[in-house]
Amino acid sequence: MADDLSFFSKDSFILKLPKKSPLVLRMVVLLFVMVCGVYIFSICLKQISTSSTSEFLNIGVIQKPCPEPNIEPWEIPYVHYPNPKTFSRAECACNPVRYFAIMSMQRSGSGWFETLLNNHTNISSNGEIFSVKVRRTNVSTIVETLDKVYNLDWFTSASKNECTAAVGLKWMLNQGLMQYHKEIVEYFNARGVSAIFLFRRNLLRRMISILANSYDQNAKLLNGTHKSHVHSPLEADILASYKPVINATLLVPNIREVEETTKKALEYFKSTRHIILYYEDVVKNRTKLTEVQEFLKVPKRELSSRQVKIHKGSLSKHIQNWNDVEKALNGTQYESYLYGDYRR
Ligand SMILES: *[C@@H]1O[C@H](CO)[C@@H](O)[C@H](O)[C@H]1NC(C)=O
Ligand SMILES: *[C@@H]1O[C@H](CO)[C@@H](O)[C@H](O)[C@H]1NC(C)=O
Ligand SMILES: *[C@@H]1O[C@H](CO)[C@@H](O)[C@H](O)[C@H]1NC(C)=O
Ligand SMILES: *[C@@H]1O[C@H](CO)[C@@H](O)[C@H](O)[C@H]1NC(C)=O
Ligand SMILES: *[C@@H]1O[C@H](CO)[C@@H](O)[C@H](O)[C@H]1NC(C)=O
Ligand SMILES: *[C@@H]1O[C@H](CO)[C@@H](O)[C@H](O)[C@H]1NC(C)=O
Ligand SMILES: *[C@@H]1O[C@H](CO)[C@@H](O)[C@H](O)[C@H]1NC(C)=O
Repeated sequence: MADDLSFFSKDSFILKLPKKSPLVLRMVVLLFVMVCGVYIFSICLKQISTSSTSEFLNIGVIQKPCPEPNIEPWEIPYVHYPNPKTFSRAECACNPVRYFAIMSMQRSGSGWFETLLNNHTNISSNGEIFSVKVRRTNVSTIVETLDKVYNLDWFTSASKNECTAAVGLKWMLNQGLMQYHKEIVEYFNARGVSAIFLFRRNLLRRMISILANSYDQNAKLLNGTHKSHVHSPLEADILASYKPVINATLLVPNIREVEETTKKALEYFKSTRHIILYYEDVVKNRTKLTEVQEFLKVPKRELSSRQVKIHKGSLSKHIQNWNDVEKALNGTQYESYLYGDYRR
């Protein structure tokens, strides 16, 4: 026992200790083994716990339907995996889907633009869904409608179903967009919806198109049916044969009003992810469509539309009171509208 005690004394706690007493040596070895045992046991415990959590993670990955797409972190809120109630996304279930809305004004080329987008195998733009008033009665009906569209449960001739990679609609500023802008911006930011603004630069041409289109609602120039968009030059010529009279007094105030609305819309929706396009730029430069496809992150394709432009060429031949209009805009900031021309 004296030897045992000496083990704890300062003097004997030196190298020659083993020689003195085999019992002490045994105690040291035992202690060493015990410490090692506890250490190894603790390591084992740690490994068991990490392996069990990694197993848990594995289960998590298996339960999650799709692998993480290879995207930048900022994109994550804009990538979705809808699970439609009405059909199975089948082999494309793990293709990410982006949500968009084309925000525009009547007769700004959005119909033509939408046919171009819908020419893409992976884009479904479902038209002017909110032209039907009950769908925009209040914020709840708007949200309900949007949810259905973005869950791919809205069926139109544009629906591509399984392999849609970008789904959206065409939405005119006067179809509840301005009225409920706050809630809609909230929805867009919460659900990751991207906005495509499409405006027209030449607001005089837009006015002619509005007047002609509204005249045709009653006149039905094409064999008794009203058409807003046509697919043949003959039909285009028939519709363009009507020359509207433009109220020259109201012309500048009208143009100003449209400009103001446009500005306001851009201000309201500036916090959303968006792109701003002008009809004239898309007509002149088809690489603008590449920009749109990049924005929607869909594979790049050549896009085509069967639609034919209705009012082609110089404006002087499309307005009955051309001289009044020319006078009204002469010297104003809108003078260039009179002579700007382009084709598509
Ligand atoms: C796109 O347009 C081309 C030419 O008109 C047509 O052949 C093709 O089927 C269209 N694709 C889709 C998906 O509509
Ligand atoms: C919204 O409108 C729908 C249809 O008119 C109506 O049934 C619903 O009660 C309204 N909801 C709210 C919150 O006003
Ligand atoms: C686009 O659609 C085709 C089938 O039409 C599909 O094979 C492809 O995976 C889709 N691409 C994307 C990015 O979803
Ligand atoms: C109107 O109908 C006639 C006879 O069906 C057809 O030949 C003609 O092409 C049509 N015109 C237009 C502009 O659709
Ligand atoms: C233009 O509109 C104003 C206001 O509506 C009206 O007073 C005026 O008579 C119109 N001018 C023409 C030429 O129609
Ligand atoms: C066409 O548009 C693209 C993309 O927006 C732009 O980079 C290019 O400079 C434009 N080309 C012309 C001729 O305007
Ligand atoms: C536009 O106004 C200028 C000066 O005010 C005048 O000289 C010119 O003839 C006008 N042009 C037209 C097309 O009326």
